[in-house]
Amino acid sequence: MYKTNQPVLALLLSSLVVVSTSAHAAGPKAEVLHWWTSGGESAAVAKFADAYRAAGGAWTDTAIAGGDQARSVAINRMVGGNPPTAAQFNISRQFQDVVEQDMLNNVDDVATRENWDKTLPEPIRNVLKIKGHYYAVPVNIHMPGWIWYSKSAFKKAGIDKEPSTPDELFAALDKLKGAGLIPLAHGGQAWQETIVFMAMLANVGGKELYLSVMRDRNVTAMNSEAFRKVLLSFKRLRSYIDTASPGRNWNDTTALLIKGTAGMQIMGDWALGEFVAAKQVAGREYGCMPGLGPKAPYLIQGDAFVFPKTSNPETIKAQKLLASIVVAPGPQLDFNKLKGSIPIRNDLDVTQLNLCAQMGLEIMKDKSRHAGIGEIYLTPDQNGALTDVLTAYWNTNMAVEKAQKNIIAALKN
Ligand code: GAL
Repeated sequence: MYKTNQPVLALLLSSLVVVSTSAHAAGPKAEVLHWWTSGGESAAVAKFADAYRAAGGAWTDTAIAGGDQARSVAINRMVGGNPPTAAQFNISRQFQDVVEQDMLNNVDDVATRENWDKTLPEPIRNVLKIKGHYYAVPVNIHMPGWIWYSKSAFKKAGIDKEPSTPDELFAALDKLKGAGLIPLAHGGQAWQETIVFMAMLANVGGKELYLSVMRDRNVTAMNSEAFRKVLLSFKRLRSYIDTASPGRNWNDTTALLIKGTAGMQIMGDWALGEFVAAKQVAGREYGCMPGLGPKAPYLIQGDAFVFPKTSNPETIKAQKLLASIVVAPGPQLDFNKLKGSIPIRNDLDVTQLNLCAQMGLEIMKDKSRHAGIGEIYLTPDQNGALTDVLTAYWNTNMAVEKAQKNIIAALKN
């Protein structure tokens, strides 16, 4: 045994101990793929990352801008055998194909522990539970058809009452135009046109027509005068947008309201996260309407994480830890407060949530107003075909009758 220099050995051992403890400290490694890249979204998802790390996990953040882009990367990586630990999808039929190809772990253990059969709203439960198993962990409830408005723009335009009917909406848009403001802040991207369309179908057509078209894909409904009226109202909104609308991101569009240069935006309550990030206060700098009038349908959607199948026990450990973290009370409140969404669990102190989110929570108690967003009912192909028709109708002089015919063809495939 050769003589050692004790202090050096002690230092060496202590550094080894440091390395080994830090190795133990970096617990289950999770690579999380999502598309939360705006100011509000990234602030919100950081709360999940913080909670996961506080629980001893190592979180690698793979943020890809744009839902369509992020979801196709996630699916391609699953098919290619190099999946992330978890991937964001909408609470919808978007991940049905990968379930059918047996590429996802089910999350029944979390579902049982969280009592989802009893606690989840029906439209969410019906699309997450496939053949008796849950295949995604929902993290929030969003609603795409909120109408946001700038209080200063409304004041400048002399609008002293929130529009509660389609006629009042167009009258307010005319006043905003007359005041030299951008009446409707719209991001000219196909998925945003689909959101505006769904909002008009719900608010002009009503819940019954909305479900006949989006859930039942009923040809008679799509050929009806009532649906024609919805499409004409949808297209009429186009005369209120600004020339910089084409291609503009939704959050850059919300920024126009935050600056007071635009009056209204029809967008999901992820826009609320941008107002929160800008430190504006609901009821002071901006207002929010969950549709037109007291019985407007509440179009339920949300976000969820799916967990690609893996045989790696470390990855499975990371998936279990991540699933338990994102549904836990603390992370749920911290995330949703910044995201602008409603928590997925109903046992939290929601007085900490924003005024608009509180309005949404109240409406969630009234099942008569619930409907799912289109993608809860439509396959990705049907939703993509519908979106193509809507954005063509929005951007060209396509006749409304042609739009009706093309929508029928798109939804009957
Ligand atoms: C939605 C998603 C929201 C938000 C929004 C805009 O599909 O549910 O969480 O990310 O896209 O990016």
